[in-house]
Amino acid sequence: MLYKRTASCGELDVGQIGQSATLNGWVDAYRDFGGLVFIDLRDRYGITQVVFEPDAGAALQAQARELRNEFVVGVKGTVARRLPGKENPKLKTGAIELRAQELIVYNATPTPPFEMHGPAPNEELRLTHRYLDLRRPSMLAIFETRHRLAQLMRRVMSNMGFLEVETPILGRSTPEGARDFLVASRVHAGHFYALPQSPQLYKQLLMVAGFDRYFQIARCFRDEDLRANRQPEFTQLDVEMSFVDDHDVTSTMERLVAEMARDFTGQELQLPLPRLDYHDVMERYGNDRPDLRYGVELKDLAPIAAMTEFKVFREALEAGKRVRGICAPGAGARYSRKDIDGLAEFIAGMGAKGLAWLKVEDAGLTGPIAKFFGPEAKAALTQVFDAKPGDLILIVADTQSISSLALTSLRSRLAAELNLYDKASFHYSWVVRFPLLAWDAEENRYVAEHHPFTMPLFEDLHLLDTDPSKVRAQAYDLVVNGEECGGGTIRVHDPAIQSKIFTLLGLTPDQANEKFGFLLSALRNGAPPHGGIALGFDRLVMLYSGLDNIRDCIAFPKTARGTDLMTGAPGTVDPRQLKELHLRPIPGS
Ligand code: AMO
Ligand code: AMP
Repeated sequence: MLYKRTASCGELDVGQIGQSATLNGWVDAYRDFGGLVFIDLRDRYGITQVVFEPDAGAALQAQARELRNEFVVGVKGTVARRLPGKENPKLKTGAIELRAQELIVYNATPTPPFEMHGPAPNEELRLTHRYLDLRRPSMLAIFETRHRLAQLMRRVMSNMGFLEVETPILGRSTPEGARDFLVASRVHAGHFYALPQSPQLYKQLLMVAGFDRYFQIARCFRDEDLRANRQPEFTQLDVEMSFVDDHDVTSTMERLVAEMARDFTGQELQLPLPRLDYHDVMERYGNDRPDLRYGVELKDLAPIAAMTEFKVFREALEAGKRVRGICAPGAGARYSRKDIDGLAEFIAGMGAKGLAWLKVEDAGLTGPIAKFFGPEAKAALTQVFDAKPGDLILIVADTQSISSLALTSLRSRLAAELNLYDKASFHYSWVVRFPLLAWDAEENRYVAEHHPFTMPLFEDLHLLDTDPSKVRAQAYDLVVNGEECGGGTIRVHDPAIQSKIFTLLGLTPDQANEKFGFLLSALRNGAPPHGGIALGFDRLVMLYSGLDNIRDCIAFPKTARGTDLMTGAPGTVDPRQLKELHLRPIPGS
């Protein structure tokens, strides 16, 4: 039996007083005052208080006394004004209650493994009972944000003339550089589809087709190590445009970003957004996605280190390493020696061999290595950081990559601990002119920094022949609060440049043809100059929802080990199914 609801649990108000109403929902709370039994009834839209009075009959009250949290029920009754002083201004329905006349229990559930309100339960429990976890009202708000963002993107992109096109999930391997998820073909023994790491090649083909402006809210699949901001399947707002340069792409996307900022945080963005040079950003912040809500820039201290007697610094410089540091405002006064040891331990985990530090005090620089600094070195150090009494200077002498990682990590940790910025604020910028290629020492060859179809900066084209590592790309990343929330490039549409890049990547013409022949042939068949970008949809939802973990904004996410604790995926399959797919079971399994 179903009591058809006449209203949701977030709807009834003083205007309906005296009317009959039927509600369906979950028991959110239960209070038995002897004479009166109250339940709060909850659905997606809100909470309504239901009262079971003695007048309604002993049988109904007895039935109500059996209710427990999370029972699914239907109630028929009359809307009544709450007693004076009993209103709840926090609820939309807080001025009224439903006086129950009939009750039906659809589902008498066991005690749930965790509370629906209050702090989040442990994640394993949440993911095992994800349907209960998603029932928690705080989770619903995240999915409302997710929905709103998708709608906003569709509206803004459509208004700018973009055409939404779906591309295949069963396809060929695409070149984003992660491992592919493969799907065995039953019909073609030994052949596999690859799930798309992104719609990259298809969207380029749509430009060759003349679609001019494409977008898709696309699911992507990458078999890579998972982190707080990475899932094996995730969603992109994928975009491609024809007859554009990099400024056209970024300025078009900025119109979307401005609408997002206005809608989700009420911020009026100043356009164009800052465009920061990759090399400059790496030098000043130590990574390519800096959080620019605060300063605390890295400084090159090599000239000052050379003025000191400190062996660690001198040896590092002689070995061609970097000596760099940051100055954390106010940290000198706040951090004890033990706290600073904690910081050293933190970066030791990243391979840093030590952390040198100096406190800035009224009397000058102090700390265990201050004795190695003469007055000139001390003055230079204070000046380079514009350091004030109370500050803490932290210095790392190490390779380019370790010093960058250690200092950028210290930078963000200290900024958070010292409250150097408003955590609810947002900062958007572009990082541009990435290197085209990165040297892969393990494989002894170049790999594409973004993907192999990225166009070099025109002024760097000649370096392809002479010094490929110096070639910069027409590439741009959207960085929001220290997260990479988007990345794209202008593509190569010239087959000759494309061949040259394939050669640099160590692909013979045959291998290139084998892997990307369809694209190369398309490029020879009327490819317009084109370029595009993909925004990390989940990451944006994560930021706008104030979350630290991408799992919280994906309805059914995977754990860090790629499993679904609720369904048990990935699971084993029947040997018959394997045989059909021409796969052999693993011996012993
Ligand atoms: P890229 O690989 O930079 O570019 O991806 C674009 C954006 O997608 C998000 N992202 C992820 N989000 C969650 N989990 C992941 N595992 C994950 N990997 C990436 C990031 C990233 O900035 N085809 C190109 C785009 C293009 O050139 O047009 C691409 O996929 O926010
Ligand atoms: P040591 O000479 O090893 O006793 O180190 C003296 C101080 O220098 C300690 O505070 C170390 O943490 C610090 N230190 C050691 N190696 C480095 C390094 N590579 N970079 C910065 N500081 C270091």
